[in-house]
Parts: sequence; structure tokens; C-alpha cells
Amino acid sequence: MCGIIGIIGKGEVSPLIVEALKRLEYRGYDSAGVATLDNGGIERRRAQGKLDNLVGTINAAPLSGTIGIGHTRWATHGVPNEINAHPHATDKVAIVHNGIIENFQSLRAEVTAAGRRLSSQTDTEVVAHLITLYLDQGLSPQKACAKAFARLEGAFALGIIFAGRHDLMIAARRGSPLAIGFGDGEMFLGSDALALAPLTKKIMYLEDGDWAVLHPDGAEVFDEDNAPVTREVRLTALSGATVGKGGYRHFMLKEIYEQPQVIGDTLQGYINAAERTLTIPGLPFDPTAISKLTIIACGTSYYAGLVAKYWFEKVARVPVEVDVASEFRYRGALMPEGGAAIFISQSGETADTLAALRYARAQGQHILSVVNVPESTIARESDATLLTRAGPEVGVASTKAFTTQLVVLACLAIVTAKARGAIDHDDEARLMNALVEVPARAAEVLNHDERLRALAESVSEARDVLYLGRGSSYPIALEGALKLKEISYIHAEGYAAGEMKHGPIALIDESVPVIVIAPSDDLFDKTASNMQEVIARGGRVIFLSDGPGAQKLGDLAAATVALPHVDPFVAPILYAIPAQLLAYHVAVIKGTDVDQPRNLAKSVTVE
Ligand code: G6P
Repeated sequence: MCGIIGIIGKGEVSPLIVEALKRLEYRGYDSAGVATLDNGGIERRRAQGKLDNLVGTINAAPLSGTIGIGHTRWATHGVPNEINAHPHATDKVAIVHNGIIENFQSLRAEVTAAGRRLSSQTDTEVVAHLITLYLDQGLSPQKACAKAFARLEGAFALGIIFAGRHDLMIAARRGSPLAIGFGDGEMFLGSDALALAPLTKKIMYLEDGDWAVLHPDGAEVFDEDNAPVTREVRLTALSGATVGKGGYRHFMLKEIYEQPQVIGDTLQGYINAAERTLTIPGLPFDPTAISKLTIIACGTSYYAGLVAKYWFEKVARVPVEVDVASEFRYRGALMPEGGAAIFISQSGETADTLAALRYARAQGQHILSVVNVPESTIARESDATLLTRAGPEVGVASTKAFTTQLVVLACLAIVTAKARGAIDHDDEARLMNALVEVPARAAEVLNHDERLRALAESVSEARDVLYLGRGSSYPIALEGALKLKEISYIHAEGYAAGEMKHGPIALIDESVPVIVIAPSDDLFDKTASNMQEVIARGGRVIFLSDGPGAQKLGDLAAATVALPHVDPFVAPILYAIPAQLLAYHVAVIKGTDVDQPRNLAKSVTVE
């Protein structure tokens, strides 16, 4: 997490750094800061909380200088106050950092013993002091940094400037992403190409272990053994243009409402609606040859993977293993040589997902990723990438990225099923028709917004909320609960409806709303029984179903929302939407920061 920007410019850099930080705020918003060299001396402005606070600080006391670094923080070590805000500095260096220095305690003891006085509780400040110690020993900035980097354990992306050196910035990458931008007599450093795109289109991605010396007219790059290396400079297609709320009160609401459009855009990448053909070219594995699929992701993307498991197993008859990346990467998973692994990530930068991908690569797997950011690290390190065309997702709680991930995975499941002979032509046509109709059905689902807003009133008063679903509605129950807790801070749990009697049923009384997700499918009657069990114990059920479902059971529930009746195959895509809207309205009623909920970040680049 944390966003880094660095500029060696021709003019004043502070306004450009602040602009770039706006594009990086999705990486964290606990604090922000900028450091420049003013007449050779390090000048800093830092502020706790959102970037707007820093803007206020800088407006009150402008920063001048043609070289500078900036940072937006997601706190790991040290509370999110101004003292712990980056850049951290000594009289000789200022530094911004994304990641975690795991051996910072021992380094801290070492620099303290050497007489350095640290002012923050961060793991980062110690790096500034270590480099300063080496500079004091007479080493050049380059040598001092190389020596310091070799001492660091953990994951980091670093940007460093030096007092008296308007022409020099040093960067290092181990684990956390970092890109260098080439301008005309200007150089840029950023956590991602999105931050740099409005400044330059010429981007070089540092590889793991690389460090770089930036001058106004270029950069020298070294690998972890300090040997000079050449890395490709590419032209980014990203614009980095700031997206607006388009008249909506929050980005999240705008993104929920964009779903009919972006689901259609994503489908168009794979389906020819007129000819009813579905093609996914360039798959890195032969769907007829795979004995198992491994799907790995985090957060909401993991729930997309869980839905896909139901699709691949039921429709394509392929055994699927799904795991969260943070567990998968450390459990020594057995992956037969030549297997197929799918990594799902909106940002394409999630540290655990990336580490799991590298583990799978080392196990000889064919790597396919489903990402929303085309030039992201996960996309670049995959054998093939299937893009979701959700467009930039700004709200921290994922919405349109999730439903477009589902669309891509549904297409992939159909293609796999067809290739393996698990479905015939008629089945294929039925599933494809159902998919092609999703944008229109999604638009109908949005018509229930007002009703869901009304239901949100009572949910907003609850302390705990349960979400129940079976089959592919179970991951939607999990996702609904995640959405609610992320943005409203109400405790919520998603449960497999059949599992409720093994524990959560003890929680049920009239104060616990139970959201039952039950499209008319082959499991409807079973979920209906579980709903009866809830009602029998005084539980207050909000029933998300369709016309036929509402007719059968609508009278029993405290409230019913009758969504369009669709083929069960595509139901999870559509039922995600009311869950998003309900969470959104509850959060608005509670007055939380919907787009930037506390403690969270959009892109999680630490483990
Ligand atoms: C964070 C975000 C979630 C997201 C998860 C995985 O926790 O807040 O919305 O689902 O990371 O991110 P990814 O970019 O890999 O999908």
C-alpha cells in the first residue's frame, strides 16, 4: 500500500507532486507528505489524514524546489499521525517508502547506538538514518544506498533525495511495485504508471531487486547484485486522467450504476452477440487437458473465484481449488507440473496474489490472470491476461470490478465446458443467451435502488447482520457481508445457508437482520427451509429472490425484493448488485466515509 511519487523537474515540483498524490490516494489515506530541496536543504510538509489536509498545509506554507518526493500512507508501523507521515528525513536525506522493513528493530538499535536520534515509530525512518550514517562515513549517495539496501529485509519501494543534490534521486524496488518515467530533461518515479501517465508516457518498470539512480536526463538501473542492467522503456496506454463522480454523491454509487454498461463492455471482449459465438484466444493452457484448476485471489476478487468454482465444477466438470492468496502462498500447495492457475485481481498489484502467482510459476503452472489494470504487475507476470473492462474503480469497496470479473470467469467456464464436451451446443447457446442478457437485467436490478434504500434504514440500526446463500449464492452472501462491514462498520457474516444451524443460528433474534439470497434454482427449496428456520426463531428476513421465489415465500419474510427471473447460471452476477446497494445505503445513513472507509486501501501492496 502507500503511494510514492518523485520528480526531478525543470520548474516547481510541489504542485505536480500533490496532483500525482491524488492519483495515488487509493493506496492509502492515513497521512500524506511532500519533501523538496529548497536551496539545497530538505524542506517537508506533512499532514495526518486525507490529502486535502496536506493541500491545506502546503497552501499555508508553500514548498519550493525543482526536485521532490511525495507519499500517501497506509499505516503499518506507527499510528497515522503527522510524525509518522512520510517523507522521513535527516539533514542529509529524505525518503518515501512503500512496504515493510522487517528487520527495522535491529537496524533501529544499531543507528541509535551510533548516535542517531529517531523521531517516529515507523520502520521507514531507520532507512533514512542508515543511509545518513553511511554518507557520514564518506560514501557517495550511490554507494551509501547500495550498502543500506543490502541490509534491508522485507518488501519495499523507496524514493530518496539528498541535500545539496538537485540532480539526483535514488529508487529501489524489492517486492513493492515501482515505475520510472522519462521526460524531456525531467525524470519521474511512481508506484504505478497511473501516477505518472499525465507527466510522461515513457515508462520503465523496475524488476524485483532493482535499484536506480535518476538524473535529469535519464536513469541507470542496477540489479540486486549491483550489476548494471537494461530494462525496457515502454509507452503506457494509460491516461491517468482523474475520473469524476459524474453527478453521483459517491464514486461507489456511480460505479454500481455503471455496471450494466461495463458488464456489456466486458462481454463484448469475448462474445459476438450477433453471431452468438464466444471466443477466448491465447489461453495459456489447453482446457481439454487440465485435470484441475487453481484459483487464487484476495478480498472481493476471492469471492469472484469462489463463484467461478461453482461454474467450473458444475458446468465444465473441472475440479477447482480456490484459496485466498495469503494462505495459499505459505502452505506449500501441491501443484502438478503443467497445471493451470488463475489469479484474479482488480488492481493487479495485490502483494499476496502476486506472491502466490510467483509460487505457482515456480511450480511449473500455466498462469492466467483476470485483472482490471492492463499494465499491472500481475498482468505483466502472467502468461496471458483476460481483462475486465470495468474502467477505473475509485471506491475502495469493489463493485463493478467484481461483476465484470464474474463475467470474464463465466465466459471462461463456458469455453472450457464446450472444449471438454461437458455441454452441448444447446447448453452453450442457453448459457450465452443468459450472459448476453445480463446488462439489461442489471439495469432492471438498479430499479430496486429506492426499495433497498428504504430497507437500509432498519439494517443501519443492527449490530450484527447475517447473509445466507447456497451454491453460487453462497459467495454472494460472503461478498454482501464484506461490502456491509467494509463501508458501514457493522459486523456482518456470510454463511452457507445449510451451515447456519451449525453455529450462527444461535445469534438469531429479532435484532439480527438476515439477508437471504435465493434465486429460483435447484437449491431454492433447501434455502427456503433454512429461511423458515430463521423465521421460526424470530429472525427478521430480507429476502432477495425473483418473481417465482417471491410468490412462493415472499409473505413469510419481513421484506422481499423480487429481482428479474434469470437463468441460475448468471444469478450471482445480478444478486451482487442489491447487496452492494444495501451496503451503500446503510453506510450513507450511518454517515461513514463511503469511498474511503477507515483503515482500508484500494490496492494492498503489503502482505
Ligand atoms: C483490498 C480492496 C478490496 C479488494 C482486495 C483485493 O482489500 O479494498 O476491494 O477486493 O483488496 O484487491 P485486488 O486489487 O487484488 O482485487
